[in-house]
Amino acid sequence: MELINIGHPFETDALVNLENVKIISDSIKFQEDTQFSLSVENVIVLKYKMSLHDKIYGLGEQMRGINKRGGLYESFATDDPSHVPDRVSLYGAHNFFILDSETLPVGIFIDFPGKVTFDMGFTHKDELEVTIQGKDAKILWIKGQTKLEIVQKFLKCIGPSFLPPKWAFGFQQSRWSYPNAESVKYIADEFDRHNIPLDTIYLDIDYMERYKNFTVDEERFPNFKAFVKEMRSRGIRLIPIIDAGCKIEEDYFLHETGVKNGFYCVDENKEPFVGAVWPGKVHFPDFINPEARTWFGDQYNVLIDQGIEGFWNDMNEPAIFYSEKGLEEAIDHAVSCKGKNLDIQSFFALKDKFMSVSNSMKDYQSFYHRKDGQMYNHMDLHNLYGYNMTRAAGEAFERNYPAKRMLLFSRASYVGMHRYGGIWTGDNHAWWEHLLLNVRMMPSLNMVGFIYSGADVGGFGAHADSELITRWTQFAIFTPLFRNHACMGTRDQEPFRFDEESTDTLRNTIQLRYALHRYLYSEFMKHRNNYDMLFKPLSFVYDDEASAQVEDQLLYGDGLMLAPVYTPNAKGRYVYLPEDMLMWQLKKYDDYQMEIFEKGHHYISVPLEATTTFIGKNKLVVLNKPTNRIENIDTSRLFLKGFIEDQGVYVLYDDDGISREPKSKNMVITVSYEGKELIINCEGDQLCQTLAYDIYTSDQKRHKGEYHV
Ligand code: GLC
Repeated sequence: MELINIGHPFETDALVNLENVKIISDSIKFQEDTQFSLSVENVIVLKYKMSLHDKIYGLGEQMRGINKRGGLYESFATDDPSHVPDRVSLYGAHNFFILDSETLPVGIFIDFPGKVTFDMGFTHKDELEVTIQGKDAKILWIKGQTKLEIVQKFLKCIGPSFLPPKWAFGFQQSRWSYPNAESVKYIADEFDRHNIPLDTIYLDIDYMERYKNFTVDEERFPNFKAFVKEMRSRGIRLIPIIDAGCKIEEDYFLHETGVKNGFYCVDENKEPFVGAVWPGKVHFPDFINPEARTWFGDQYNVLIDQGIEGFWNDMNEPAIFYSEKGLEEAIDHAVSCKGKNLDIQSFFALKDKFMSVSNSMKDYQSFYHRKDGQMYNHMDLHNLYGYNMTRAAGEAFERNYPAKRMLLFSRASYVGMHRYGGIWTGDNHAWWEHLLLNVRMMPSLNMVGFIYSGADVGGFGAHADSELITRWTQFAIFTPLFRNHACMGTRDQEPFRFDEESTDTLRNTIQLRYALHRYLYSEFMKHRNNYDMLFKPLSFVYDDEASAQVEDQLLYGDGLMLAPVYTPNAKGRYVYLPEDMLMWQLKKYDDYQMEIFEKGHHYISVPLEATTTFIGKNKLVVLNKPTNRIENIDTSRLFLKGFIEDQGVYVLYDDDGISREPKSKNMVITVSYEGKELIINCEGDQLCQTLAYDIYTSDQKRHKGEYHV
């Protein structure tokens, strides 16, 4: 691994472990080693001539496929809910990609906090061109024998993910908004009445008093502390939202202390910059300034003191609805149009004036951050804003609650933020295309450290139908963050809102998540601790060309392959098996079908009531009995499934799920087969008492029984 420093790069703190990295300042060597040409003028440009078979993986939260070749992408954290196919940037800035060339793959990370453009063969089909909008950047390049080895090296450089508490692996229900205590209670009651598992309910912006961060509206949530406690006693945690913009209001503590201490971003006259978001006019905390981070991070205590144990940070690209100047200009323009006969140009100019009022580059250019006595224009550090908001919270949690894990995730992010919190993928839509996008994005998010992540299940915008929700839920039982969330004004989409049949299927599917809990938690923790990807494209493990073509199946953990259904009315789908595998199709955790399929392409029937997965050769999976809260899971009995040719080993990991530095326990389950009898053996920590097994061997025999640990 080698790191080239160009000019005087701003320290983003993305790279925290450079143990095996050689620092160089020689761009000639970079060019020779990577075959990229590098030019540094007002901008830095990296170019590479691709051959026919070259593929590109990575870029984290971006549109398009798993192979990113052919697309144009931009790293510029953007609040835009319209995730259409040609959208070039979403909320995250994840400048890491792997060029999988015919010779050896190479990984490149552009550590630069401003805008970066990745033209991956869009303008010229064989030219890869990366343009960095500045003269100072770090470029890390990583060689390895395989793509996976490169990712693992990169993940070591950026450090391990934050640790979510175990309960954060339960089902989470959200909506913009459950505006008062009654509506939250109603949701909890309905989940319980329908016997659907649930661990958290989200509080969107309406819980606040006039959208003021760290306040609670007392009319809608009288005695909030007692309410949090009451919900907690039912096993449900409430997760409030925190927004980046802080309301300007006299006597509001956040406003007063922030202004007094100079903790807000400033305009060119060093006055706090004014933008507008939900509450109207706001200031934006200067998260780049470490003192401002400490101050803001400590504010979360207001809610933590009332029993809150998790948060989601939002609007932190930052989203700016308008600035005074921008809005005034648009209004003046509109007034000047009044009474006129507007033709095509003048009408569109008027329309564009208003369309471009939000998140305008002019506004981003007009405010500044301050660090160590220096001023930085926001444009130059734009992509670090959401990262440092979440860092503010994450650092504060560690400082103030060193023993305990908190749930935290953010909308905007940059590489390195995963050490403080996860991400959700923002305002997607209830579109089948966005279910597929969710599938394709999971591995690229894992490539940049975001292992605790997920999309709004069922879609945020647009009205969802029961089939879409069902199929999406079937995939999302595998995503660590498993949250159904929807936009204001959309149809209710909680799992019990449709017909009885759909409720039954959704109950069974969510129960399946709880039945897989110990396995999913074990896989999450092992992959996190080993700097590995939890979701992998097939080509990261299998090197045949057919695997490299697969864009709608993923390898999950160490043993499963997922082949989700992402089209309406599907009765079946084509699946590619990179080796012989055992299909495991589950209607319920204890109602499933298993069948061995040979390596190759198959058409598989996929009933709407069933989640379809595949178990790899010599791989094992464990299940527990589902409950309706994670904390109630009975650990005494496990169900062992597997597909064994000769020997399979599964290491079941567990810990207390709440300590920051947990004492890990491992039980090693070995299943051996020599053509006659199946031999099961367990060693290490005793993580259950009984293993009820149902295992297929590759000679088509099924073995059932019980093993006492
Ligand atoms: C943003 C968030 C969304 C949230 C809404 C209201 O659009 O992305 O999740 O519901 O704001 O807070």
